[in-house]
Amino acid sequence: MFTDTHCHLHDPKIADVRAVVGEALNAGVDKIINMGCCLETSMTGKELAESFKSVYFAAGYHPSDADKFSPDTADKIKELTLHEKCVAIGEIGLDRYWKENPDIEIQKKCFVSQLEIAKECKLPVSIHCRDATEIMLNILKSNKDKLLYGGVMHCFAGSKETARELLNLGLYISFGGTLTFKNAANLLEVAEFVPLERCLTETDSPYLAPHPLRGTVNQPKNVVLVAEKLAALKNKSTAEIAEIVRQNSLRLFKKLA
Ligand code: NI
Repeated sequence: MFTDTHCHLHDPKIADVRAVVGEALNAGVDKIINMGCCLETSMTGKELAESFKSVYFAAGYHPSDADKFSPDTADKIKELTLHEKCVAIGEIGLDRYWKENPDIEIQKKCFVSQLEIAKECKLPVSIHCRDATEIMLNILKSNKDKLLYGGVMHCFAGSKETARELLNLGLYISFGGTLTFKNAANLLEVAEFVPLERCLTETDSPYLAPHPLRGTVNQPKNVVLVAEKLAALKNKSTAEIAEIVRQNSLRLFKKLA
């Protein structure tokens, strides 16, 4: 069975969540982790996890919403982590791509505070990083003590050198639809380099639909296409990759069951 370790079923682009979760199950995707971007979407994730057996959730503030993170919302995120299906703090991180995003100093503060929450709540983190590799690596290295329960770099698109640094920090590397894109040469090399026991798969639905569905609304069932691509790169069968990723996910996200 396949695992989608990062998606956003709360996004309005996904019109019929019940149908999408059903189609995922039919495709063999029996574990889906919905990522929070703010308090509201984290709460929606909790509701979805209560409605569907295969759905789990993460709670947290995305860098785009870092300016809305406060001591009060931090407490509410901590409350959410007590839920039996809250498997991680996420998605958290840095994003300097979108100009309208909060100032990088605000993002850094929000990110480090949530690393602290992860340690306190004994949960792994799901990390987003866009156009901020150096700052990200520096923060992770100087806050290594807060990564006690591990983490994953979601939808990895960086270099082999960056992947090596993340692996040295004990993190997992998650591959999404970008792995299947025609211009993915660098990423293919990275995927060959990352040890199998540190690979995860995801869709980041509704974004980044894999080839040949690029440009359409992505959904968790498409994680199968990512697993197929990873299997080809690793000289494994798709079933073997699915099983390895399942085991990796259970190891990292201890509350997945
Ligand atoms: Ni995401």
